[in-house]
Amino acid sequence: MNLKEMVGYKAAEFVKDGMVVGLGTGSTAYYMVEAIGKRVKEEGLVITGVTTSHRTAAQAKELGIPLKDINEVESIDVTIDGADEISDDYQGIKGGGGAHLFEKMVANHSKEVIWIVDDSKLVHKLGAFPLPVEVVKFGCQQVFRLFEEKEMDPSFRKDDKDDLYLTDSGNYIIDLHLEQIENPHEIAAWLDSLTGVVEHGLFLDCVTKVIVGTEDGPVVKDVSR
Ligand code: 5RP
Repeated sequence: MNLKEMVGYKAAEFVKDGMVVGLGTGSTAYYMVEAIGKRVKEEGLVITGVTTSHRTAAQAKELGIPLKDINEVESIDVTIDGADEISDDYQGIKGGGGAHLFEKMVANHSKEVIWIVDDSKLVHKLGAFPLPVEVVKFGCQQVFRLFEEKEMDPSFRKDDKDDLYLTDSGNYIIDLHLEQIENPHEIAAWLDSLTGVVEHGLFLDCVTKVIVGTEDGPVVKDVSR
């Protein structure tokens, strides 16, 4: 079992009958969805999933996990998702898979947020992983220029055909190569203030539990907020 699979399956143990569960996106979340799907099929676990991307929705449907749209549920009990970086103080960068807009909306409406990562994702400070910023198409070159002026080393994300990457909402992503982020709350607040920016990948003060995959097994850490 690889580390992503290990934490995906471990996280699925925290899901209980009757819960509304936010289902994250990415190669680690894939295993969590697979594990929940098995529990639905083999144990008769009764849950409602709220997905964070078209990819995850397709996988969950295939596995027979009952789904509802985020607009159809009153609240979400727990969201389980991957992350690209987690700092010493449990702040995160997400959006490597381009799904951070839906992921943040689902997380923000959840009572509990669990991140599942292998130990390579743990960092002292955020920033080595490029910070994804989803932008609307209109005026995106102006936003890009602003990032250049601020020396944030921006690049438009491309897909595997070398076309501009399109999110599930039909927007572009600009990745900021910041190397080290000393002041994540300041950067988040500034990005939040920009017209044309839909959402960025800084997930601050959001996670309540982290499950880290290590060679010695999964380590579960409760994060007090
Ligand atoms: C997608 C995400 C993913 O959770 C993040 O990129 C981690 O992905 P993976 O588990 O494949 O490393 O934020 O938008």
